[in-house]
Amino acid sequence: MKKFDEKVSILLNDKVAKDIYKLEFVCPQISECAKAGQFVEVLVEANPVCMLRVPLCIADVDLDLHSITLYYAVVGESTKQLSQQNIGDGLKVLGPLGNGWQQVPQLENAKNAMIVCGGMGAAAVYLLAHELSKSAQSIDIVCGFATKNKIILKEEFENLALLYENPNIKLHICTDDGSFGFSGYNVVKMNELLQQKTYDSCFVCGPPIMTKIACKQALDHGAKCFASFEKLMACGLGVCLGCVLQTKNGLKRVCADGPVFDAEIIDWENFC
Ligand SMILES: Cc1cc2nc3c(=O)[nH]c(=O)nc-3n(C[C@H](O)[C@H](O)[C@H](O)COP(=O)(O)OP(=O)(O)OC[C@H]3O[C@@H](n4cnc5c(N)ncnc54)[C@H](O)[C@@H]3O)c2cc1C
Ligand code: FES
Repeated sequence: MKKFDEKVSILLNDKVAKDIYKLEFVCPQISECAKAGQFVEVLVEANPVCMLRVPLCIADVDLDLHSITLYYAVVGESTKQLSQQNIGDGLKVLGPLGNGWQQVPQLENAKNAMIVCGGMGAAAVYLLAHELSKSAQSIDIVCGFATKNKIILKEEFENLALLYENPNIKLHICTDDGSFGFSGYNVVKMNELLQQKTYDSCFVCGPPIMTKIACKQALDHGAKCFASFEKLMACGLGVCLGCVLQTKNGLKRVCADGPVFDAEIIDWENFC
């Protein structure tokens, strides 16, 4: 798969929620071949302290502008530096990386699908939701956030029903503290939906414990289930083995073999 190391120019770097930014930049080569669920590694060149690139999911692609959009939470030095970059500033971006949702055969077969995401995991499933919307009869998108001011991509997910003229594409926002939408964890809402309807496919991305519970619930329900995983990464290219995940088929590199894996092959006992 082709990868490019592009010097890009920032189009937008806006705060969209508490400690969360939306970043868009022009990258003709990466945008042209980026697929749902892949990621890029971003280097803030102006920052002499952080030499490591930050892995971030490709949330959206604009083929007319030749741009991609990312959403990132400010958690440490690199993401803080990133949040201080302005329109027109340069970044180095390597990508597209990894095997995303596109490798999942279930994508085209999904008729009644559920997407379960938590926090920044919403960014990893937005393009997936578009892909599924092309052929699925119904999609329940269950997004969990800690609190109201951490919600991202709400309008974008809501617009899918209009865009694909399918009222059965439904968004269920959940907040841990009950400040918006369903009060409680998204996996509780997920369980409620599983009791009401039969789903053939489930797609998951979020914090480890949420991922584990959501995948287990989906598999117990009899649905095919796929999840996108995050691990601390160094090279991002499959070389350093810093990002391995224990599976029933041995160790797999999240950056190169994933980040999307079939939930059936994960060694959940040793996961978290
Ligand atoms: C494939 C992939 C896709 C990702 N996509 C996104 C995304 O779309 N949006 C987003 O906000 N974040 C995403 N992340 C996480 C993001 O890469 C880290 O938050 C970022 O690298 C932190 O860099 P920092 O220097 O600011 O913080 P650091 O100082 O490096 O770390 C701050 C804290 O974040 C934790 N952390 C750092 N990297 C990771 C990681 N990879 N996974 C879990 N915890 C981590 C550290 O342990 C520490 O507690 C993704 C990670 C991976 C591996
Ligand atoms: S980060 Fe080096 S192998 Fe995945």
